[in-house]
Formats: sequence, C-alpha cells, structure tokens
Amino acid sequence: MLSIDNMEPKAFSLLISALLIATVHSSRKMSVSIIPSNGEIYVGETKYFMCKATQEAELKWVTTEGDLEDEPGRFETEKVDETLIGVNVTLSSIEPDQVIKCQGETDSGESSEQEITLSVIQRPKIVGDFGSKKEFTAGSLVKIPCLAEGIPKPKVSWMRNGKAVSGSQGRISVHADGSLQIDQIQLEDSGIYSCAASIDVRGEKDQKSVSITVNAAPVVRLPNKHLNATSKSNTSLTCSVTGNPAPHITWRRGEQPVLHDGEKYILSSNGQKLLIVDLDKSDEGEYTCNATNSLGMESASLVLEVTSEHEKGLGAGVIVGILLILFLVVMLAVDLTCFRTRRRGVFMYISTNLLGKSVPRVKLEETEVKKGSTDKNQVVNISGIDA
Ligand SMILES: *[C@@H]1O[C@H](CO)[C@@H](O)[C@H](O)[C@H]1NC(C)=O
Ligand SMILES: *[C@@H]1O[C@H](CO)[C@@H](O)[C@H](O)[C@H]1NC(C)=O
Ligand SMILES: *[C@@H]1O[C@H](CO)[C@@H](O)[C@H](O)[C@H]1NC(C)=O
Ligand SMILES: *[C@@H]1O[C@H](CO)[C@@H](O)[C@H](O)[C@H]1NC(C)=O
Repeated sequence: MLSIDNMEPKAFSLLISALLIATVHSSRKMSVSIIPSNGEIYVGETKYFMCKATQEAELKWVTTEGDLEDEPGRFETEKVDETLIGVNVTLSSIEPDQVIKCQGETDSGESSEQEITLSVIQRPKIVGDFGSKKEFTAGSLVKIPCLAEGIPKPKVSWMRNGKAVSGSQGRISVHADGSLQIDQIQLEDSGIYSCAASIDVRGEKDQKSVSITVNAAPVVRLPNKHLNATSKSNTSLTCSVTGNPAPHITWRRGEQPVLHDGEKYILSSNGQKLLIVDLDKSDEGEYTCNATNSLGMESASLVLEVTSEHEKGLGAGVIVGILLILFLVVMLAVDLTCFRTRRRGVFMYISTNLLGKSVPRVKLEETEVKKGSTDKNQVVNISGIDA
C-alpha cells in the first residue's frame, strides 16, 4: 500500500510537485482570442482572422444563426491545430456590419468565446468625370463637382495652386456637397485646382487636379496718357495687356501703323513695349496700342510730346528773354511817341536825371533850341566862309 508514512522523502516531494502542477493546470481558465481584433475589411478584399485558445479545445466559428458555414468567396474556415482556427473573410459589396464569434470548449466542459464585428470599409476615391483640363469664358458661373466614395464618408476639400480654399472666399466657394463654385470667373482665377477626399482616421486620401483656363477678351491699360520725352533720347511706350488667348498687339501712330523695323521702332517680344529710338520732334503724336484676340479687342492711346534738349535747358531763360524784349519794345514805342509829340524821350529824361544834372525841362529845351540855332549859325558861318 502506498502510504505517505513510508515514502522516501524524494518521492514525497515529487508527488507534491505533481499535485501542484495538476491543480495549477486545471485552475487556469481556457480562453479564446481573435487576432486581429479590428474587424474592418476593405470592400472586395480578403482578411484573415485567427482564433487562438489558451489550451486545447473544440474551436469553431459561429454566427448569430449558428455555425459559420464555408461560403466560397466569403467565408473560408480552416483548422490549424487543437488551439488554433482561422477564417478568410471577403466582403465583396457594401453591406451592414455582421458579428461572428469564435467559441471554444475543453474536454472538461470549460468554454470561452469572443466576438468580432465585421464591417466593410472603403478607401476614399474621387469618382465620376473629373477632367484634368477645363476651359471657361470670363464672367461665367463655374461649378466643378467632386464626388467622392469611401466608407466612412470622406471629407472633401479643395486647394488652389497649393493653398486651401475653404468656405467662401470672395467669388470662390466650396459647397457642402464638395463642389467648387466660382462666380463670374476671371482671368486671374486660372490655375490648378485640386480636390482631395480624405478619411483622416485611417490617414487615407485621394486627390485629383483640374487645370482651369479662363478665356477673356483683352483689357488694355496704359500707365501714362501723356508722355514727355527729350529729343535724341529713346523712350518706351508701355501698354499692359491681359487676355486669353494671348492678345495680338499692334501699335498705331495716328492712323498709321507703327512698323517695328528693329531700328527706329523696337517691339518687345510680347508686344507690350514699343521702344522709339532717337526721338525727334517728328515723333510727337498720339500712339495707340490695339490688343486683339478671339474674344474681342481693346485699344488705348497716349500722347507723346518731344521737347528738344535746347528748349528744355533754356526754358526759363527763354521766358525771361521774351519778357525783356517785350519790355524794350514797349519802352521804345513810348520813347518814339514822346519824341514825336514832344521831341523828347524817356531815355533822355532818365539819362539826364541819372547823371544828376536835374535840368528843368523848359530850360533844357531852350538850351537845345539855342544849341540848334548855334549849329545853324555855324553851318551858315561855315557856308559863309565857304561862300
Ligand atoms: C486565405 O487567404 C490567403 C490569401 O488570399 C490564402 O493564402 C489562404 O490560403 C486562405 N486561407 C483559407 C483558409 O482560405
Ligand atoms: C508734359 O509737358 C506738358 C507741357 O509741355 C505738361 O503740361 C505735362 O504736365 C507734362 N507731363 C508730364 C507727365 O510730365
Ligand atoms: C537708344 O537705343 C539704341 C538701340 O537700342 C541704342 O543703340 C542707343 O544707345 C540708345 N540711346 C540712348 C540715348 O539710350
Ligand atoms: C485693332 O486691330 C484689329 C486687328 O488688327 C482691327 O480689326 C481693329 O479695327 C483695330 N481696332 C482699333 C480700335 O484700332
């Protein structure tokens, strides 16, 4: 008989160990777990789930309706070993969430289960006709839809030339349905617009760009309506033209077209700058810049005035000179009148007064008369001598 009393101490300790191991083993509860724990599956893709038991057990997949039946293309189960089963799940269409469970039961009747919710997800994708190039005529109302698919619903945003367009920015706005609207589109609204559909929780994004071209009739702006230039210099007439397609620019002087010969007239490559070389007075006139494209035309004019270097330098001097001449003419006229009426001039009057010899006018006249008579006498005398 086996008795503890007569057991070898070594055997006794072995027995205790065995008992302890058995106790520990049976008291460790069996449990099952599904890996991965995230039941999200991209539509059309297959995801493998495994169910692992902490100890050997009868393992199976079940649905709310009973055991999970293999369904090729949807559920494909496999038993790997006594502690592991797996299932490939393929969700080929958008469908409601479904719960499946992994159940395990040991020989001793212990059981455990874990469930997982299978839900279909979808990457964001911009769908529909999203052309890469669009053309509009200035002034029109533009609406570009950005239809995005994805589960959960992606957030749609627009960027213009790399900068976010949000809500309403003047004439440009983004609608709740994700479409971009541009009221009265203008030439300056041209650019690359891109729509992004993103699902931030998964860091997923789809993006498409559209290049918007705006066609507009030419608009001509002249910085100066009047230009003064000096002769012998070069001057350039500038005409700022916008428009699309690129307007064809021509210049006119009066009614005559300006022929850019590369010598007298040099036209910039875009036609907006006309250089006139070695100006002279004959270059004066009205110059017109005419811009034309398929949508229309516009022209604007400026007046060029050429002042000679000489005129310019002596401008003030000439005026003073003219005034001086006028003054002298008036003086001369007055003097002449005086001389004719009184036989005396202002100059004489001034000169006599300036000399300090303030001689009364009458006396002066008398002296003059006397002088005159003496002269006569002298002449007579001379003649007398001669005679
Ligand atoms: C599950 O799918 C993977 C990849 O498609 C395949 O290699 C594996 O054999 C499948 N397993 C089962 C049980 O169908
Ligand atoms: C050009 O000269 C005229 C007079 O010759 C003057 O009235 C005008 O203000 C000047 N314009 C400029 C832009 O200097
Ligand atoms: C005017 O332009 C011509 C041609 O470009 C150049 O040869 C000349 O030196 C210029 N004259 C002046 C005064 O700038
Ligand atoms: C401008 O140029 C176009 C084409 O050369 C011509 O038909 C039109 O008459 C011009 N317009 C003006 C205002 O000069």
